[in-house]
Amino acid sequence: MKILVIGNGGREHAIAWTLSQSKHKPELYFAQGNPGMRELGQRLDIELTDINGLLLFAQREQIDLTIVGPELPLSLGIADRFQEEGLKIFGPTQAGAQMESSKAFAKKLMADYNIPTAHYRFCTDQATALKALDEFEAPYVIKEDGLAAGKGVTIASNRQQAEEAIRIAFQKEMPVVIEEFMQGQELSVLAFCDGKTVLPCVAAQDYKKIGEGNTGPNTGGMGAYAPVPLATPDLMARVQQEVLTPTVQALQAEGIDYKGILYAGLMITPEGNPRVVEFNARFGDPETQVVLPLLEEDLVDVMLATVDGKLHQYAETGLCFRADTKAITVVLTSAGYPGDYETGKPIFFPQYLSTDVHVFHAGTKVLPDQTKVTNGGRVLNVTATGDSLEQARQRAYDVVKQIKFDGKYFRSDIAAVPAEAMTR
Ligand code: AMP
Ligand code: GLY
Repeated sequence: MKILVIGNGGREHAIAWTLSQSKHKPELYFAQGNPGMRELGQRLDIELTDINGLLLFAQREQIDLTIVGPELPLSLGIADRFQEEGLKIFGPTQAGAQMESSKAFAKKLMADYNIPTAHYRFCTDQATALKALDEFEAPYVIKEDGLAAGKGVTIASNRQQAEEAIRIAFQKEMPVVIEEFMQGQELSVLAFCDGKTVLPCVAAQDYKKIGEGNTGPNTGGMGAYAPVPLATPDLMARVQQEVLTPTVQALQAEGIDYKGILYAGLMITPEGNPRVVEFNARFGDPETQVVLPLLEEDLVDVMLATVDGKLHQYAETGLCFRADTKAITVVLTSAGYPGDYETGKPIFFPQYLSTDVHVFHAGTKVLPDQTKVTNGGRVLNVTATGDSLEQARQRAYDVVKQIKFDGKYFRSDIAAVPAEAMTR
């Protein structure tokens, strides 16, 4: 079996590593992957936005399954093109990917089908948006409508800041969604969806802020852990009933055959109610790095069942995850991130790693002399499992300390304090 993985971050490395454990022993190809993934398969020199190039490769090499990591190729319609050619691809079509690429689309779907979320107004001109602020109170939530890699959201503590965020959005000609601010704790639920059946993974929490104690600016994610004590069986049953199932039914009703990961970013309110903050059309990063190491199923089988519309095979028991095992991932970044940072710093890895620890690569590069150097803001993800979160934390941080590169930064409180909602 031949599998092509598209993407080059820690998420894709974790996906590739999990695929490499499959009983199918797939031959793995990466477009373009990263140096950590090179030990698991073959790197291709095809950009992830080069849909024609990827399609030609998949046809020529008779790839059995293509897995799309990041949202960009999905929103460009890669799944539509592969499906038209009869190729199996894990990830929704362009219409389905609007769940992530268009906040207005996702909010309207939720409103039309009574899926719990924050009240909102969608505004396509600046004057209407400024006026719509009257309907809300501080803190104001202003979201630019488009793929923004998590950067298009402003939580404004007063009206002046909110007006400023609206002006900035319209300078870029981006319509905005203005939302009610939701209090509570955030929870990431990644669910496999075959268009009809939707089955969640164990819930994870990610840490978005750069600083200890959830302070400072937002990042692409500084760490994660799973499972989350907050996500009791009762709560997960409600998430299924109130969010996942109605969302897939809504997509179906809209004529969208959604195949891939439906990622529900939830706010669990102080009263314990799940409400949707956002949907994503792909695996979360860094949540994937803690969710997949806990998966007991063969990932290749689950993905093929997803693409073939056969997830109902797993519906009775749900997807199985390792009971009583906890996972944590700590992100190592370059000094300065999420602002400016330097790259090209040699990385020293520990010689020995126990089987409970994985170092997933994100922003790294190999020089011609084989030295591995930093090549991005988020450099490495150290993932560890254990019988308790404390044990998993110790194992991860042990390795975090042994890895050395100039300017190495990490948060030392991942899984020690809850990843609470932003209260900026
Ligand atoms: P999004 O891109 O929609 O996920 O927003 C990014 C982050 O902003 C979320 O993960 C939350 O931490 C925060 N956020 C977004 N919308 C809200 C809201 N309505 N209330 C509170 N926090 C929010
Ligand atoms: N961890 C947040 C995301 O993947 O969007």
